Amino acid sequence: MSHTITLIPGDGIGPEVSEATKRVLEAAGVKIEWETHNAGAAVAEKRGTTLPPEVLESVRRNKVALKGPIGTPIGKGFKSVNVTLRQELDLYANVRPIRSLPGVEPRFEGTDMVIVRENTEDLYAGLELMIMPGIAQSIKLITERGCLRICEYAFEYAKRMGRSRVTAVHKANIMKLSDGLLLEVFRRVAMRYPAIEPVEVIVDACAMMMVRNANKLDVIVTENLYGDILSDLGAGLVGGLGIVPGANIGALSAVFEAVHGSAPDIAGKGVANPTALVQSAVMMLRHIGEMSAAQRIEDAVTTIYRTSDVRTGDVGGNATTNEFTDALCRLIATSA
Ligand code: NAI
Repeated sequence: MSHTITLIPGDGIGPEVSEATKRVLEAAGVKIEWETHNAGAAVAEKRGTTLPPEVLESVRRNKVALKGPIGTPIGKGFKSVNVTLRQELDLYANVRPIRSLPGVEPRFEGTDMVIVRENTEDLYAGLELMIMPGIAQSIKLITERGCLRICEYAFEYAKRMGRSRVTAVHKANIMKLSDGLLLEVFRRVAMRYPAIEPVEVIVDACAMMMVRNANKLDVIVTENLYGDILSDLGAGLVGGLGIVPGANIGALSAVFEAVHGSAPDIAGKGVANPTALVQSAVMMLRHIGEMSAAQRIEDAVTTIYRTSDVRTGDVGGNATTNEFTDALCRLIATSA
């Protein structure tokens, strides 16, 4: 069966890791017709918008996209294309498995947690203004509907994946109404899942817990900003941003992308680690029902890290993106 999937290569290292991931999927024999669309600053120069309408139309039509990172100017300039995409497509659940790979030195052996981040609300709602010179305001928007669907997603995910605990990460001691709403909804949803242990942790304590004893955490459900920060922290625990995948899930479509950004410091040098996007593609394959190809790629990733020193610089090797991808593709081809 052939799948039509939208590909947004992104910018910075995006095109390099996207190309590598396409090759890996091809090596696994998955038949994909890619609809490739660009977005971001370079597109805006030609089209006057960072996110042309055909990009959204393509994802809506195909229901699945693989996406490279897209850079966002800091402190000025256009709104993040990544955030706009998530909001426009209502991709409310950002799922980020934080799992160590064999042969990549983790902070703790066997780290295996999943961050389920609310992806459309919170301080990312884009409600920001200068009240007067010298006074800026950002509005943190939290809705009952947003809390309900993300908590339900987290508990359903835990149930489906055979996980035993869901931890709500919040700051309701300070933000009593907004984060308090998340907690109230979390407790309500938890009652419907008696087999899953509900835990509540304040975000600062969670950060400490992650660096002291990450194995205490299983599934985390949290708001947009806390989830963003904690997932980079999680990536740091298991070997860095080069390996941690992610999925943005909505009711009608899903966009799969790594946790990392466009890494301008290494863009164009051919040294980016494609593992994070490859692992995001594995999540995508499972989403579209290509279970055996997903397993073959996942096994090959595990094998390459366990048995060889072919790896990129961010995880202690000296292979280029292409050398690592070649080795991974060979392994997948021989596992057929
Ligand atoms: P970043 O994730 O791009 O880079 C942080 C550090 O990790 C850098 O040293 C980079 O070289 C390294 N790194 C990241 N991915 C790597 C990979 N695959 N292989 C090897 N090393 C890797 O974060 P940063 O620098 O904060 O953001 C850069 C740009 O990316 C910003 O414009 C930001 O807005 C954007 N961004 C985009 C995201 C997306 O498209 N979903 C997510 C996060 C950031």
